[in-house]
Amino acid sequence: MTGRARTFSMLLAGLLLAGCDWMPGKPTKAEEPVLPTDVHAFNTLYTANCSGCHGTNGQFGAARPLNDPLYLSLADTAYLAQVTGEGVHDTLMPPFARKQGGGLTNRQVSDIVNGMHRTWGTSADQSGTAVPPLVSGTKGDAARGAALFETHCSACHGTGGTGGSVAGSVVDSAYLALVSDQALRSAIICGRLDLGMPDWKGTLNGSPVPQREGLAPLTDRQVSDLVAFLASHRVEFAGAPFPSLGNPRGSGTQVP
Ligand code: HEC
Ligand code: HEC
Repeated sequence: MTGRARTFSMLLAGLLLAGCDWMPGKPTKAEEPVLPTDVHAFNTLYTANCSGCHGTNGQFGAARPLNDPLYLSLADTAYLAQVTGEGVHDTLMPPFARKQGGGLTNRQVSDIVNGMHRTWGTSADQSGTAVPPLVSGTKGDAARGAALFETHCSACHGTGGTGGSVAGSVVDSAYLALVSDQALRSAIICGRLDLGMPDWKGTLNGSPVPQREGLAPLTDRQVSDLVAFLASHRVEFAGAPFPSLGNPRGSGTQVP
């Protein structure tokens, strides 16, 4: 080896030993791509995975608001992790756990669940009132539910629930085909504080709504009765019939 070559290889070895962090073109730590499984920030995970259905910042989505302190005080970590990981069968709530075909690791599911409790689950002061359990095995009775609906709900949702001046139909078969009984129960207990639906004791963001004035808070059994009443409007084939494409009998028409 010539003297120059030796100097060069010593220089190279020196460079390698010194580490290459400063080499031109090498991305800095901050520029290195982050693997999707290495994302743990609640806001990033929520926005990427949940906000499309549950809304930006957990409200005003098609599916129930998640930035609801009352809901989060009733839904414990295990329940939230199970729903998030496994989804809700036969509804649009997808499973997110990898072993269910989703894209999130178990740790990321925990990151989201803990993040919801930490960020949105602050103060749910129920001042001594017994809140019906979020999940309940109490079997409801549709006839009792129908009567309760008239006293507690029809002022907003119309007689029989077909829609009123304040709120829409809750007995529409297409709506009922999209939600589970649990989603109905969650709505009746926690309301939809983003859209103006009061909770089980008739309050909305802490203030009583005039339509429920003077009525006692709902009990576990009453919530089940109301769910049974709404669910009794489910039909086997929900939704509008296929367009008839000009055939008055509405069947057997071929699309040209
Ligand atoms: C003060 C008016 C008011 C009262 C009283 C009320 N609701 Fe509602 N409810 C709403 C509004 C507003 C919405 C939002 C959707 C809409 O505008 O139709 C809603 C939504 C709902 C939903 C759909 C929730 C969802 O996101 O899927 C259900 C189910 C429901 N109400 C059931 C009931 C039942 C059962 C009662 C009686 C215990 C009741 N509501 C009483 C105003 C009311
Ligand atoms: C494609 C739409 C969609 C996406 C995305 C989605 N959800 Fe849902 N989610 C729903 C629907 C629809 C329901 C109601 C299911 C039912 O009928 O019970 C639901 C229900 C839930 C419930 C249960 C509510 C209850 O009644 O107790 C939780 C908790 C929940 N979602 C959390 C999440 C989280 C966390 C994410 C993101 C990791 C997420 N969801 C992403 C559509 C979605």
